[in-house]
Amino acid sequence: MPPTAPRAEAWPGLTSPHLSPLLPPAPPRPSAAPARAPPASRRPRRRQRPPPRRAWRHWAAAGAAGSCSLPRRGARSLNMAAAVARGGGASGCPTVPLANGRCIPVLGLGTSHQGGYSHDAVVHALRKCGIRHIDTAKRYGCESLLQKAIEESDVKREDLWITTKLWHSDYGYENTKKACLESCERLGVEYLDLYLIHWPDTHVPGKSNREVRAETWGAMEELYEKGLCRSIGVSNFLISHLEQLKEDCVITPHVNQVEYHPFQRPQELVDYCRSRNIVFEGYCPLAKGEALAHPSITQLAKKYGRTPAQICIRWSIQNGIVTIPKSTKAERIQENCKVFDFNLREEDTKLLDTVNINNKLIHLTYPLWKG
Ligand SMILES: NC(=O)c1ccc[n+]([C@@H]2O[C@H](COP(=O)([O-])OP(=O)(O)OC[C@H]3O[C@@H](n4cnc5c(N)ncnc54)[C@H](OP(=O)(O)O)[C@@H]3O)[C@@H](O)[C@H]2O)c1
Repeated sequence: MPPTAPRAEAWPGLTSPHLSPLLPPAPPRPSAAPARAPPASRRPRRRQRPPPRRAWRHWAAAGAAGSCSLPRRGARSLNMAAAVARGGGASGCPTVPLANGRCIPVLGLGTSHQGGYSHDAVVHALRKCGIRHIDTAKRYGCESLLQKAIEESDVKREDLWITTKLWHSDYGYENTKKACLESCERLGVEYLDLYLIHWPDTHVPGKSNREVRAETWGAMEELYEKGLCRSIGVSNFLISHLEQLKEDCVITPHVNQVEYHPFQRPQELVDYCRSRNIVFEGYCPLAKGEALAHPSITQLAKKYGRTPAQICIRWSIQNGIVTIPKSTKAERIQENCKVFDFNLREEDTKLLDTVNINNKLIHLTYPLWKG
């Protein structure tokens, strides 16, 4: 059957013809009670296709954003400069393969609310710094602004990796699908490279967090199967949340995006994610700027002739973490991208690995980490 015409009346405000083939069945009218997803336990369990052996060599041919240039395991020992020389993604940035064969650029540009967005800086990042990976969220309120910056940059959609996130006010089976389409519309894209559930806490009266997460993930799986989201994942999920999701759902998240910087190195979670083929993405790599004055970091900056920000970003990437520093300043973005032409020696990565043991942990964003 040919794709049906856009159902503008069913998806108010969503009129892009390019979205029409991907529109899921029309949702109930706003007054009607939203349809519930069948309980996850009653849905047939499908096995996720395992990645092929030595898959990162073959994933390049899988039509992902760029050719994968970093094996996920053992990334610490990799020479990134060599990885770039081998040919990274569209911008030359090394990429990390996800379990589904897509490749995420290991360095991205963060955006945020509360003064965390600058149009000129994003355009500069795309045009002059080779940034091809942008992290945003509905919560940050800058998806529409990003559409303008991407248009102005003239970078082709297929060369970009765009991640956005589902905010908890949109959790639930039907709401999730609608929110995804709305994010696509605001960003002016036909698909997302990665869609994340922003937080494990759900705030839905009368339902457990676990129940809402399972319903929401059911919708994420459907968005993935329809091609609207090329990869799906979670953010701020602890091992317990991922274990529950394993029991309740079918597709393993491709990514878990979590706070990761020298003061906050949740190694147990990193190891758990790796054991389940979930790529670990680290946010706040500069600890929101707080790491930049730490003596271990300033000493290393001096030793390598780099800036403290470059040391933090390089350390994170060398630990095999997809890393998304944010800056609203063109010159800082430029600085933050220059991290692929040097290697931290093993003793120095180890020194930074222990900063979080020797210092009081800083949990910038997620109170659950305190538990
Ligand atoms: N999933 C989640 O729950 C979650 C939570 C938080 C963040 N995130 C994502 O992670 C991204 C990064 O996190 P973040 O912005 O909170 O923290 P961050 O990247 O660790 O730090 C950003 C701060 O550092 C400053 N900065 C950036 N580059 C610098 C440099 N070279 N020298 C000195 N200062 C520099 C920035 O100021 P200027 O802007 O003034 O340069 C800003 O104040 C966010 O943008 C967002 O995309 C996700």
